[in-house]
Amino acid sequence: MDRAHAQSLDATDPLARFREAFVLPPGVIYLDGNSLGPLPKATPGRLAAVVEGEWGQGLITSWNAAGWIDAPQRAGAKLARLIGARPDEVVVADSTSVNLFKLAAGALSLRPGRKTLITESGNFPTDVYVLEGVCALAGATLKVLPSDEVVSAIDEDTAAVVLTHVHYKTARRWDMAGVTAAAHAKGALMLWDLSHSTGAVAVDLNACNVDLAVGCGYKYLNGGPGAPAYLFVAERRQAQIRSPLSGWMGHAEPFAFEDRYRASADIRAMLCGTPPILGLAAMEVALDLQLEADPRAVETKGQSLCRFFIELVETRCAGHGLALTGPRDMAERGLHVSFAHPDGHAIVQALIARGVIGDFRDPDIARFGFSPLYLSHAEVWDAVEILREILETRAHERPEYRARAAVT
Ligand SMILES: Cc1ncc(COP(=O)(O)O)c(C=O)c1O
Repeated sequence: MDRAHAQSLDATDPLARFREAFVLPPGVIYLDGNSLGPLPKATPGRLAAVVEGEWGQGLITSWNAAGWIDAPQRAGAKLARLIGARPDEVVVADSTSVNLFKLAAGALSLRPGRKTLITESGNFPTDVYVLEGVCALAGATLKVLPSDEVVSAIDEDTAAVVLTHVHYKTARRWDMAGVTAAAHAKGALMLWDLSHSTGAVAVDLNACNVDLAVGCGYKYLNGGPGAPAYLFVAERRQAQIRSPLSGWMGHAEPFAFEDRYRASADIRAMLCGTPPILGLAAMEVALDLQLEADPRAVETKGQSLCRFFIELVETRCAGHGLALTGPRDMAERGLHVSFAHPDGHAIVQALIARGVIGDFRDPDIARFGFSPLYLSHAEVWDAVEILREILETRAHERPEYRARAAVT
């Protein structure tokens, strides 16, 4: 294996043209698009048009004239195409945490006799924290179980099973169809967090008969820092589900200014307050770009990048104590790769100093994301060569790489 081999893999890349659509600083190999996607080149121009034209000139008339009021559903309909949903089953709104709160409480409202939510230990912290909050308010019980106990714990008291489809540390991918069917077999609902899936691996919510889902806009979807998130409610659940955040945008007629809340009969019932138009504008640019790519090509290329990275690290960096965390089989994983190492944090800092940006997750995980739209196999080769040099020269042992920043 050599760099020429990497280049030969890139020569047939059907997604190669997408790289030009992103701002990627020279000298940087960006392996953190699973945490914050890079800037699409079309975003600044669109934001300038929204700020200067629609806001600056159109002022309040833009709520109607520029279609601001419909932005959550319009973006939702675009996002729906990426996750196997119908256009009227998704809205782009709020953060993933807030959407999870709405849908977990909504799941309890759909299963009134049941008082338990189940999730896995080691799930992304916000998921567990939010479920704790929902259960405390609803007088329900949260079971946080090891992953191999989740399915067998589902019973007649389970209102919903709440899992992250691709695990944020290990990249392990749950069997969406199988676990959803297991929840349904016991009369429970299934709520998936797709934050590490959408824009990376193929997702088909309706083919898997999923009830509810949430996900993040700023990772593989490249919507920008703090981009609005999304939520999915299957059409068959929309008439009954109740959002605990009954804000005016979820009202059947927000501009009737009625005294009492009357929920919208469709997905808009899951909206709460005034939509963040600038964030939604950036999100729509990113979604339009993502929709140009064939999702199967996205997953296939991402898997090829991950496979290549794992092979190279395990051969060219052998003997330096890096241990793959999570599954090796591409069918069982998402598009980031984690290696455990006692000096994981310092290694990531040393890599960043050399222009290879990955991230670190406690206690010892060096994590690297392989976003298929802009990365090449040649960059994977170069990144691993830099990693090898760092390990061979023990550059990561320098004191400057020991300090921990607030955001890692
Ligand atoms: C699985 C998962 N859910 C949710 C979030 C973030 O939620 P929020 O956008 O509300 O901060 C993350 C962020 O990394 C995540 O990995």
